[in-house]
Amino acid sequence: MRAAPTRNSEYPWDAFDPFDYLVHNYSRLRADDEEILALTQAWFAEHAGRPGAVNGAAAVKGSGAHGIDVGCGPNLYPGLAMLPLCRSVTLVDYSHSNIAWLRSHLAHCGEIWRPYWERISPQDCRGRFEQARGWLAERGRIQHGSVFDLPAQTWDLGTMFFVAESITADYAEFDRAVSRFLRALRPGAPFAAAFMEYSQGYEIAGVPFPAVGVGATELRDCLANRATEVCIHRIPTGAQPLRRGYSGMLLALGITT
Ligand SMILES: C[S@@+](CC[C@H](N)C(=O)[O-])C[C@H]1O[C@@H](n2cnc3c(N)ncnc32)[C@H](O)[C@@H]1O
Repeated sequence: MRAAPTRNSEYPWDAFDPFDYLVHNYSRLRADDEEILALTQAWFAEHAGRPGAVNGAAAVKGSGAHGIDVGCGPNLYPGLAMLPLCRSVTLVDYSHSNIAWLRSHLAHCGEIWRPYWERISPQDCRGRFEQARGWLAERGRIQHGSVFDLPAQTWDLGTMFFVAESITADYAEFDRAVSRFLRALRPGAPFAAAFMEYSQGYEIAGVPFPAVGVGATELRDCLANRATEVCIHRIPTGAQPLRRGYSGMLLALGITT
């Protein structure tokens, strides 16, 4: 019997079905995503262009920054959360099926994202949904690539949601994915990274994908020496978990060193 694959490159990322994933995960705004979105939004708002920020982070003021969402899949809410601060938002994914989905959906972001935008921009304080749509079409940059190959110190703020622990079963690769994400940001850049806590892997349209089981302790270890002002929030699964085989969600907020 063949052992289950462990490494990122051994999984069929082009067989990742963005439609199935989108419907299952994001067709309605869940309480856990709502909390993650609120914390992320507040973090970026608080740390945008504050005095003393160095290099690129100083540019995170108004709409002049360059943001990146790594392993975005068909999830547009991390990109939407950065949009009001950004001149460009680069959406990177390794899967050609997700890149194709992004190419056909970025020009006119679907209604599904309206409630997410309404949390980012209550009472239209950061613009109306129609405006966000226009910004996304204008400022979104789709890039096929791997987290492991990102150039260093290139972006001013960044997000990576449910990626590092969900693209490999190998702890060293998980750690390297986090490190490469942080390294892609300039020193002093605010970031938000979300994780499925102690995930045992997942299936999309019948295709199995891997996971590394991480909790807040492993996450803290992984971020030590790579980030400052780290806050790790744990969001319990609640009465309606997204699926089986995980114990909650974790959101790590911090500033790159
Ligand atoms: C569990 S999904 C998360 C998608 C999305 N970020 C979200 O919040 O729902 C993992 C994503 O990582 C992408 N991925 C897999 N290997 C990758 C790699 N080496 N570099 C970048 N993205 C990768 C997959 O194609 C998929 O879109």
